[in-house]
Amino acid sequence: MNPLLSAEEVRVRYGSLTALAGVDLSIHDGQRHALIGPNGAGKTTLLNVIGGATKPQRGTVRFDGRDINRLGPAARARRGINRIHQRPAVFATLTATENVVVAALPRVVPQRRWWPGGRRRTAQHRAGPLLERMGLADVAAVPAGHLAHGQRRQLEIAMALAGSPRLLLLDEPAAGLSAAEVGRLVNLLRALPRAIAMLLVEHRLDLVYALSDTVTVLRDGQTLAAGTPDEIRTSPLVRQAYADGVA
Ligand SMILES: Nc1ncnc2c1ncn2[C@@H]1O[C@H](COP(=O)(O)OP(=O)(O)O)[C@@H](O)[C@H]1O
Ligand SMILES: [Mg+2]
Repeated sequence: MNPLLSAEEVRVRYGSLTALAGVDLSIHDGQRHALIGPNGAGKTTLLNVIGGATKPQRGTVRFDGRDINRLGPAARARRGINRIHQRPAVFATLTATENVVVAALPRVVPQRRWWPGGRRRTAQHRAGPLLERMGLADVAAVPAGHLAHGQRRQLEIAMALAGSPRLLLLDEPAAGLSAAEVGRLVNLLRALPRAIAMLLVEHRLDLVYALSDTVTVLRDGQTLAAGTPDEIRTSPLVRQAYADGVA
């Protein structure tokens, strides 16, 4: 089976600094893959390359069998690659529902063109179940700017789901959340439909084990190890990398 996403020989340099020195990564439909490694390893850069925000100097990114190197983030989102940002990208003055409606609108195909507001109403119908899925039903009418940080992160995920993603890119989704918020987020992510693949950057190993099927360890822009969470847990190379200073 062809992978949903494959990144081949990806190289990114910033001046004399090599952020990614030829990295390969592939993710199949529904696979939940974690990317771990010390600070500065190149994890966010790789996520940016896959999401389309950073153009690699070399290498190819394929999605669903097509070379998507030339596509920007919006075009990739339309194809099903959705990015969750480290600082939740929500509209502060719009309610939670309105945020999801705005995210859903471009994906709603008008069924009856003569019905004014039909698309918007369809998007509104979609928003309710998505907010409920992400544990936000009670705050649907609250402006996003008034939500707690953890709830804004949940809202951003609801917005990503409104685009019917096939691959979710998450960069340290638990960063800045309280212990209770982290627990809630992990449960919500675990309960997402298995058909949605995930690429999760995370340095908390407990979350990696709770959320991922497979793991790649990056260090200095190179792949140090790849395998199942259990294989990674017992890998001497990985222990060394973590001993050298991740968390
Ligand atoms: N826009 C940029 N300009 C210059 N250097 C950058 C830029 N983005 C990242 N880097 C550098 O590239 C390396 C990898 O960064 P990053 O991908 O953010 O690592 P990680 O997410 O694993 O901590 C680091 O040395 C970082 O300082
Ligand atoms: Mg990072």
